Amino acid sequence: MRYRLGRTLIPAPEIQARVRELAGVISRDYAHRDLLLICVLKGAAIFWGDLCRALRVPSQSDFVAMESYGDSTSPLEEPRFTKAADVSLSGRDILIVEDIIDTGHTSVRLRELLYAAGPRSLAMCALLDKAERRQVVTPIEYSGFVIPNAFVVGYGLDFDQQYRHLSHIAVLESLPED
Ligand code: IMP
Ligand code: MG
Repeated sequence: MRYRLGRTLIPAPEIQARVRELAGVISRDYAHRDLLLICVLKGAAIFWGDLCRALRVPSQSDFVAMESYGDSTSPLEEPRFTKAADVSLSGRDILIVEDIIDTGHTSVRLRELLYAAGPRSLAMCALLDKAERRQVVTPIEYSGFVIPNAFVVGYGLDFDQQYRHLSHIAVLESLPED
């Protein structure tokens, strides 16, 4: 299959406006708390960069990376961290910063792993929510946009490590074989 960049789903100015709104709500909710942003590499890196700079409360940040589920979602093969957090999570107010919640499996597992480290609170901030695709229930306390069931790229999200640099979110189109 060949692919190409397709139509714009969310233009850059809309993303920027929504990130500012989310940062406003998070700043209100986390005033006088001990906010630790956990950015999930690699897809959330650009979102994290804009979000943390728009916050009006102090925050610390750390980074994790997860093994991917691929196509198998067997509970016998729970994905682990390929990079765990460096700082202690115990007693912290953790806000996970994610690019997209699709089936929900990564989020469920990530919450389990982080919860085991004993934070005071744990919440999810995801830029995109592909709600139609959900297979397991997982809360998204701060959600940027609910999007339809399409493969999207840009603003950190990739296809084969491409397109992360785009300032907007676009649909990846598959081309017919010739
Ligand atoms: P899950 O299905 O909710 O476990 O999502 C797992 C991961 O798949 C997300 O964190 C993304 O990294 C990736 N993913 C899911 N949908 C898309 C997409 O449309 N574009 C790019 N990456 C995606
Ligand atoms: Mg991800």
